[in-house]
Parts: sequence; structure tokens; C-alpha cells
Amino acid sequence: MKRSSLAAVVALSGAAALLLAGCSGSGGGSGSGAAAASTRACVILPDAASSPRWENFDRKYLQDGLTAAGYEADIQNAQGDTSKYATIADQQLTKGCGVMVLVDYNGAAEGVATKAKAQGIPVIAYDRPFTGADYYVSFDNIKVGELEGQTIVDGLNAQHKDPKTATVVYMGGDPTDGNAAMFRTGANNVMSAAGIKPAQEPKGVWDQAQTATNFEQALTALGGKVDAVWVANDTNAAGVIAILQKNNLTGVPVSGQDANVAGLQNILTGWQTATVYKPVKDEANAAVDVITKVLKGQTVTTTNKLADGTPYIAVTPQLVGPNEVETVVKAGDASAAEICTGDVAAKCAQYGVQ
Ligand code: GAL
Repeated sequence: MKRSSLAAVVALSGAAALLLAGCSGSGGGSGSGAAAASTRACVILPDAASSPRWENFDRKYLQDGLTAAGYEADIQNAQGDTSKYATIADQQLTKGCGVMVLVDYNGAAEGVATKAKAQGIPVIAYDRPFTGADYYVSFDNIKVGELEGQTIVDGLNAQHKDPKTATVVYMGGDPTDGNAAMFRTGANNVMSAAGIKPAQEPKGVWDQAQTATNFEQALTALGGKVDAVWVANDTNAAGVIAILQKNNLTGVPVSGQDANVAGLQNILTGWQTATVYKPVKDEANAAVDVITKVLKGQTVTTTNKLADGTPYIAVTPQLVGPNEVETVVKAGDASAAEICTGDVAAKCAQYGVQ
């Protein structure tokens, strides 16, 4: 596995124009086999627990985009099970796939990519990187981390706390997800430049309950004192916030990403400082654009590549604090009805969320 080497991103000086026909190594050329001629797009999502995004947004926007582009979409979810991932892939390949769009789960995508490529089927790494994909379509994940790190530095400064002496806990994502290292690199670039060093850093996970357990242990080790918590996503942030609430620790800067409903509620109530909003529709559309060009043998232009050379289409993320929650609602990626429940309703009125 070369997953760690995927974490580094190399920006090309100019736009690199690549033709999949020239770099896939399939040798068959488009339309040479039954699978290549197929207009079925086979998609595998990783799970439902790490974030609501996969079932709520990625499935919907990929389905819409692929259908509009003339593909039959076969979208399945591996539900956090690597054997199920492999079984789904085998079934999809038996039916035939014109392209495979894979969100990696714990390394499972790499073996699927090898099988697909052996059949001349192009493979897109969607959202998460893995070895063997023809293209990586995601957000600018270093930037995601930088926005999270800036949230922590700004949050400490707003409270006139010196970042150099502040007690900051790092709560990262699952290291088997190649994005987790990019989020951490971006966040730490900004935090370390401000003089922050992690006071505690439990092993990363994508799991709310496990994050709560890990954070509680870290807090105990710190004698109950914490000034800020860098958290890689909103699901994990909810786990951290449950422990802050249990210990009556208010006003602690907390970061996140995904702009999920719980995250947006925590931002409005002041328990989470900001989230990084990644409009999944933009990511799904970028993937559909790459797929369409690849299957037509057209040029795909990318400005970045991963350290292993995989061309990287990196969509721009946005920082969302209480004043920007409404932009997520306006975009259709959350509704005021879901967000503005219970105590949050008054905050929605205050911040113009409707
Ligand atoms: C990442 C993804 C994030 C978040 C996380 C947990 O790979 O980029 O958006 O959802 O996984 O699923």
C-alpha cells in the first residue's frame, strides 16, 4: 500500500492535459469490449455512519448527474464492510460497467480497481484517494484542513488566548482514509505556524461514539483542561461536544467539516465554531464531467496531481460559521425545518436561517 504517499499533493506549474486513452494502460481503446461499451456507471459508497453525506447527498447528486449525462447509475453502499465492498464490485462487474466510481473504504477500492482495470474499465477515485485510480475527483483536502486549523487559531485569538500556550487536542479522521492525512496536514500547517502543538492526539476514527470515548480519555489525561479541539468532521465534532457539555466546558473552539445538520445546529448554538462546507453537487458534477470526457476520449484538464501522479480534480471548499448557515440552506444542502428545531429555533431567527 502506498497510501501515505498519496497524502502529498503536488501542484503542477501549468495545467496538465491528459487523455485517459493515453494513460489508462487498458490497451483496448474505447468501445473495444462489452464493458467499455457499456453506459452503466458503477458506484460504491463507503458507509452510512461516518457522515450522512454519502446517503443524503453523494447518492442523490451522482444519480442525478449520471442520469442527465445518459448513464444508467448502479449506486451501492458497502456499509462499512470490506467484504461487502468486494462482493458489490464483483456483482457490478458481472453485470458490466462502463466506468467504476469508488469511494474507498479501508483499502477495499484498490483491489476493485485492479480488477476493473484488467477489464479495460476506467476507475475514478471519488472523494477519497487510493492507488490505481485513473483520476481523483475530490475537494481541495489540504485547503479543508487549513480552514479547520484557521477556525481553531481564530477561535483562540478571539478569546485572547495565546495559541503557543493553549491546550489543543487533535481529533483526526480514520487513517485508512487517505483524506485524513491531508486534512491533518492542512490543519497542522496553520496551527503549527501559530505555535500550536497537540496536547493530546488519540488515534483517528470516523465514528461519533468512538470519538467521544477517545476525547473523554484525552480530557482526563489533561486534568479536565482544554482550550480548543481540532476535529476533522462534524460527526466526530458531535462526539467531542457531548463530552464538553457533560463537563460544562463552554466556549471551547471546535472545528469540523461536511456542514451536516447536527454540525450546523452546533454552530448556531455556539458549541461548534465553524464547519467546512463541501457542496457535494459540485464534486458529483466534476466526477460526471471527468467520466463523460474519459468515455468519449476527450481531454481532461487537471491542475493538481497526487504524489503518485494521479491527476487530481480539486473542488474548492467554503468555511461556514453561524452567519453562513443560510448559504447551505439556500443551496438546498440542508433545510431550515431540519435545523431549526427545539432550542435552535431562536438561533435560526437570530442568524436569518429560514
Ligand atoms: C472523508 C470525507 C469527508 C467526511 C469523512 C467521513 O473522506 O472527505 O467529507 O465525510 O470522510 O466520512
